[in-house]
Amino acid sequence: MLEKIKEAVGFIESILPGKPEFAIVLGSGLGKLQEEVNNPVTIDYQDIPNFPQTTVKGHSGKLIYGEIEGKTVLMMAGRFHYYEGYDMKEVTFPMRVFKGLGIEKVILSNASGGVNPDYSVGDAVVINDHINMMPEHPLRGKNEDALGPRFVNMSHPYDEKMIDFVVNYGKQNGIEVKTGIYLGLQGPTFETPAEYGMVRILGADCVGMSTVPEVIVANHQSMRVFCISVITDLGGPEIRVPVSHEEVLSAADKAMPKIIELVKALIGNEV
Ligand code: HPA
Repeated sequence: MLEKIKEAVGFIESILPGKPEFAIVLGSGLGKLQEEVNNPVTIDYQDIPNFPQTTVKGHSGKLIYGEIEGKTVLMMAGRFHYYEGYDMKEVTFPMRVFKGLGIEKVILSNASGGVNPDYSVGDAVVINDHINMMPEHPLRGKNEDALGPRFVNMSHPYDEKMIDFVVNYGKQNGIEVKTGIYLGLQGPTFETPAEYGMVRILGADCVGMSTVPEVIVANHQSMRVFCISVITDLGGPEIRVPVSHEEVLSAADKAMPKIIELVKALIGNEV
């Protein structure tokens, strides 16, 4: 794996005009952040050695390098989900490459279903912990000691300074920010009412199909992680409102401006 990472890193370094400070993974909540990148340089996934390829034809994913709030960022437009058929090493390969490029801070976004009764559709939730219920672990198999330890400390999976900054920024600027625990399931089905009930009983506030593998691998490499989720639907044993992908996208779209403001503030300030 080390050789594969090195090849990808070398190729990307040969193209980028500078060193990125932040990696940003764009989920359904943050797609429009692409438009905020100044002096963009893009690299198609298909040109990067060993990089996984997107499954949807015509939607070739790309890395976008550039500046936001005067800081250099490298953005992933197009993410790899386990439910698409990638294995966990593929899902998390970009995190390996980001660390190889010298990036220490990762910002992830996603859409999730809310099971905390205090949540509403459109809420911005800063993730402060997770429960891994994915069926395959990204660190299963021989450990590469050069990348991180065999047994990974997960006592601070999400960076507390970054969480506090965004929560306080929200308070001071009239943006409601909630915090919560994300539970990762493989999907691709949305949850049944009973499964949403289970997610709540297990102690989570929201549920989704991404993020957890990337966060585990980022922690393996001692990176600082921040994740913000848009609540796009609500679930629970008493709730039988159908969820559709379209609804998820439309709720995420509405929440986008506040999510973008929060993320830009996080990038622009030394946190
Ligand atoms: N479950 C899983 N993933 C999701 C959901 C959900 O309810 N909403 C948005 N992504």
